[in-house]
Amino acid sequence: MADKKILINARTIERRVMEIGREIGRDYAGRQLVLLGILNGAFIFMADLARAIDIELEIDFIRVASYGNATSSSGTIRMSKEPELDLAGKDVVLVEDIVDTGTTIAWLRDYFASHDAASVRICALIDKKERRQSEVEVHYRGFTVEGGFLVGYGLDYAEKYRNLPDICTLSP
Ligand code: IMP
Ligand code: MG
Repeated sequence: MADKKILINARTIERRVMEIGREIGRDYAGRQLVLLGILNGAFIFMADLARAIDIELEIDFIRVASYGNATSSSGTIRMSKEPELDLAGKDVVLVEDIVDTGTTIAWLRDYFASHDAASVRICALIDKKERRQSEVEVHYRGFTVEGGFLVGYGLDYAEKYRNLPDICTLSP
């Protein structure tokens, strides 16, 4: 059994998500906002964030090939579920659980920017700096973390721990 320690508790996450929601609501007032969540990791963050934004918006999800059971990125990206919405002319905010090397989100940002979206911004619950390889601007970030492997609030290790209400560090 791996050892879990709370790094960011549920109350702190809730407050921060409310703040980001208000900020996005202000920034996108009068625009055509689409929250595009990246499955599976972003599903809980997305549910809370969407309810913290009080302007009209649309919601869709995509899925990319992920870490699988390992704790490091393969660097190969493939979209295994495309958006159902037509994003042409829309203001897309990609909602991601965690940006680590940045490979995934940089690829997605470029993909949607070149597919007629009016604008593309990145919202990440966690910006993990230590292993960054691709240059990405995270416009909306919940928390900055230096490193370590995190689980909970949607984040998994081998598909487990997503249901933890707090964000925890996991050591083997
Ligand atoms: P990147 O392409 O290296 O930025 O990988 C980002 C993806 O890796 C995220 O969407 C997560 O699914 C996964 N990931 C990166 N770090 C962690 C972590 O600490 N815990 C759980 N998943 C992680
Ligand atoms: Mg992910």
